[in-house]
Amino acid sequence: MAVVLAGGVGQRIGLNTPKQLIKIAGKTILEHTLALFNGAPEIDEIIVLMTPGFAGEAEELVARSGFGKVSQVLEGGASRTETTWRALKALGPQECNVLLHDAVRPLLKPSIITECVQALKLYEAVDVAIPSSDTIVVAAPGPRGEIIRDIPDRSRLRRGQTPQCFRLSVIREAYERAFADADFDKHPATDDCGVVLRYLPDVPIYIVPGSEHNIKVTHPVDVHIADKLFQLTAVTAPLPSSFAYREALAGKTVVVFGGS
Ligand code: CTP
Repeated sequence: MAVVLAGGVGQRIGLNTPKQLIKIAGKTILEHTLALFNGAPEIDEIIVLMTPGFAGEAEELVARSGFGKVSQVLEGGASRTETTWRALKALGPQECNVLLHDAVRPLLKPSIITECVQALKLYEAVDVAIPSSDTIVVAAPGPRGEIIRDIPDRSRLRRGQTPQCFRLSVIREAYERAFADADFDKHPATDDCGVVLRYLPDVPIYIVPGSEHNIKVTHPVDVHIADKLFQLTAVTAPLPSSFAYREALAGKTVVVFGGS
């Protein structure tokens, strides 16, 4: 089961429509992401949680693209964790694997989905992360702005990506505890592994290596980076049928040597 979290508004991009509806390489970001999961043999069913007021657009896009594994399009909540909570409440009682993915990470490699599902045979919680090439500093308020409080050892730091993957019963229990805790509102978690780590600390969360390409489209510059990465992927990947290839690159002028 894949849950595609598309409930955000994309404030940092600053458009009137949610950033998951921006077109890159001829398709919306949401379509690229759904195509990945719809085409993954490990995935049986997909739920999409869309920005309130935009569920109709998502439904249309799903019908137009023929994403047959999408069973429900629901509205998301006010925060990412509320959106996940809504998804968990919409799932039935039957145990399954749940992969929660940011809709705005359209460049996920299918092999990472495979590795995550494999890892769920051994672990009940799995994250995807990459080493941090930047030094991460812990900031604190100073007399005239921020000052550094700490510089954690970079070799131990990882940057979390998605999908974040769980046995349904585990992520559901973590969320039930979180939403029953009055303190959770004051100190919310920013991702799903954060909820498991806080409310089920005995559950080990295995890390599957992510990819530098699996970027989260967050700031305007990320749209340009993602566009370039799609061009690179299309040119370096084995060529699909010429029709699919032209469609993937719609609107771009790309020179490819060789052909299918
Ligand atoms: N998300 C969600 N529901 C929310 C907030 C975020 O499903 N209430 C999803 C976003 O749609 C995105 C993912 O969580 O796919 C990662 O969040 P982020 O990049 O922070 O997206 P936004 O919240 O849309 O961005 P911003 O913070 O700039 O508004």
